[in-house]
Amino acid sequence: MPGTCVIGLQWGDEAKGKIVDLLTQEHDVVVRYQGGANAGHTVVVGEEVYKLSLLPSGVLTPGVTCVIAGGVVLNPAKAIEELDELLSRKVEDSDNLKISDRVHVIFPWHFAEDRVMDKNTSDGENIGTTGRGIGPCYRDKVGRSYAIRLGDMYRDTFREQVQHNIKVKNSILSAMVPPGEFEPLDAQAVYEEYLAYAEKLRPFVADTTEYLLSAAEAGKRILFEGAQGALLDVDHGTYPFVTSSNSSGVGISSGSGVPARYINHMIGIVKAYTSRVGGGPFPTELDNEIGQRIRDQGNEYGTVTKRPRRCGWLDAVAVRYTTRLGGVDSICLMLLDVLSGFDELKICIAYELDGEQSKKFPSHVDDLRRVQPVYETLPGWHEDLTQATSRDDLPANALAYIQRVSELIGVPVAMVSVGPARSQTITLGSGQ
Ligand code: IMP
Repeated sequence: MPGTCVIGLQWGDEAKGKIVDLLTQEHDVVVRYQGGANAGHTVVVGEEVYKLSLLPSGVLTPGVTCVIAGGVVLNPAKAIEELDELLSRKVEDSDNLKISDRVHVIFPWHFAEDRVMDKNTSDGENIGTTGRGIGPCYRDKVGRSYAIRLGDMYRDTFREQVQHNIKVKNSILSAMVPPGEFEPLDAQAVYEEYLAYAEKLRPFVADTTEYLLSAAEAGKRILFEGAQGALLDVDHGTYPFVTSSNSSGVGISSGSGVPARYINHMIGIVKAYTSRVGGGPFPTELDNEIGQRIRDQGNEYGTVTKRPRRCGWLDAVAVRYTTRLGGVDSICLMLLDVLSGFDELKICIAYELDGEQSKKFPSHVDDLRRVQPVYETLPGWHEDLTQATSRDDLPANALAYIQRVSELIGVPVAMVSVGPARSQTITLGSGQ
């Protein structure tokens, strides 16, 4: 049984890229199966820092095949930019990449629509999207009328598809955008731009469903790399303040084509506290100096959009929910070093709603907005953790914090991360 999946269990930015990078060395194939260039993965290899948003973090490990599977929405310019960057930095085997001919392609109208639609939620609060055209591209995919897949770009009908779509999209956008704020798109220019992308990407285009099925059947070790976090899952997250794909792990098979029977290990990535970018409820948010301290110590500013992230205490109600949803076996607790220096730490252990306490994660965003977190307080620690390399190097209060997180979430903490480098990782195994 060759499949392992890494998913974020909060609202994204849990530092999944680091764990994927570590695990890649034990795998033959690394697959991205949902989302697009809205993700931001920072991976530190030696002195080098790599920031990837579309290519799987596995491209940094020689000898591994990386796959962008059909469930991803592809910004071709971004894929080319990241490939060129790796090439210029001489990352070996960075061209060992397969991109599904089934991926849906993000076009300029999707960016324009993303900007407009985000201001028009029925809720009144903006989703605060990354502005990368993700939602509009997925909407067209499901709608089936104005969608273009990568494989379409190599067919004679591609020019006509672009012309047809632009005619419709120009009229929709000019009706939605205030006069003067929208420059109609030019079909010929878009066609030529995208044709050039298609040519550059041609060597990488493949039927990845077939490739992955054969790899799974041959017993190859496959690592699935989730993007965003489970609370942003379009079906099971904090809808409508979510992304437009299944980021909780339920989307692995639909996005990659690999049946669930080949996926036997689910690893959840959890930050030692919580962060969120964009709009939507966040029960443990600290809109105060403690939140600012966490933001500064954790450098909580977006990899993709550079936005300051909202920060707060760890929410064990939310993470227990996403752990169950993802069928997670063990978790990696990330950025524990960021919590050094606090006299006390809090973990949310229940929600209070209308005078009642519950450990259930609400299904409706209005209820999540109204819950009051019920906290347990734990003693903090003042030691710097960034040099710790084993359990014995961790202060007793940090170990107690890890132990309590594991109890509240219901699965073991297998690894703890105390810094961005590969070496700043402590393996605890299953028996902490
Ligand atoms: P979209 O994915 O750009 O449509 O954005 C929808 C919501 O998901 C917004 O709140 C974004 O901030 C959030 N989001 C999307 N991708 C990420 C990510 O990689 N990390 C954290 N938040 C994300």
